[in-house]
Amino acid sequence: MSDKQITIGVLTSGGDAPGMNAAIRAVVRAGIGKGFRVMGVYRGYNGLVNGDIFEMNLRSVSGIIHKGGTVLYTARCPEFMAEEGVQKAVDNCKGFNLNALVTIGGEGTFCGARELSRRGVSCIGIPGTIDNDVASSEYTIGFDTAVNTVIDMVDRLRDTSESHQRCSVVEVMGRRAGHIALMAGTAVGAVAVLVPEIDINFERDIVKKIKRIKETGRQHFIVLVSEGVGGTESLARSIEMRTGIETRTAILGHVQRGGSPTAFDRSIATRMGYKAIDLISRGIGNEIVVYKGSKISSVDIERAFELKKPFDKEFYKINSSVSI
Ligand code: F6P
Repeated sequence: MSDKQITIGVLTSGGDAPGMNAAIRAVVRAGIGKGFRVMGVYRGYNGLVNGDIFEMNLRSVSGIIHKGGTVLYTARCPEFMAEEGVQKAVDNCKGFNLNALVTIGGEGTFCGARELSRRGVSCIGIPGTIDNDVASSEYTIGFDTAVNTVIDMVDRLRDTSESHQRCSVVEVMGRRAGHIALMAGTAVGAVAVLVPEIDINFERDIVKKIKRIKETGRQHFIVLVSEGVGGTESLARSIEMRTGIETRTAILGHVQRGGSPTAFDRSIATRMGYKAIDLISRGIGNEIVVYKGSKISSVDIERAFELKKPFDKEFYKINSSVSI
């Protein structure tokens, strides 16, 4: 290793998302292609705090592009929230001679990267979370796969819901955001989609709507609820009571985070990983790689936190007006 060789680290943090492996692969391969030494950090900021860091090579990332999860493992790291933890991480970055660190995850991951960047560790963030709730990027790795998983599950539910002439109330992930619910709800033709971003009127938008549709001959109904709204079980009970239609609840949970990434997730992840290396090779740091207008670009990490993710209200209205 020459004295001048650049060494970079790569980690995944927060909830895993399908496509993270494709991003790791691109970072490692493009990085080595540029002549960098690439170090993998296990379990997100946990590995950075505890020095769980190892050298990767071209073959460390063979056969992972199609796999869900993350080969670097991930964690939510409470220790990293405290000053002492951040300092330990900074010390380890220095100890392992990391000139830059690529962090793959959501807003929580980028908060960590911002703390490190303020302490002199150059960071590049890559948005990876099924929630698609990173303000600076129109897309986050994993969203497309998760939505397709939801569609697959709801199509199965539809079979039984239709046979029993029931209403299925399905809760999907999205800690604070309703993007999964909106996209999947539209794709399955849900009669109602409940998201934290939009207030709806239970009587008008659910009860009366279901009763009206029932009169036109429809016998089964799908209601999609984003986790961020809460109260899924009691919503189902109220629907049953107010409409007289037998109602069942399905909470899809972590199954939405698994599975082989779609072509879209694999390709976006590859482009984003490549972009991270491109930035580092040009001496640029403290940026978040973003997807905007079908292009991959980047924004300053400090500025990224000033942005607010818009919710597509027009799209929401379209689904409501065709699910009738
Ligand atoms: O951020 C992704 C996400 O899957 C959210 O949709 C969900 O609320 C959360 O992670 C679940 O986190 P955990 O895996 O820690 O239970």
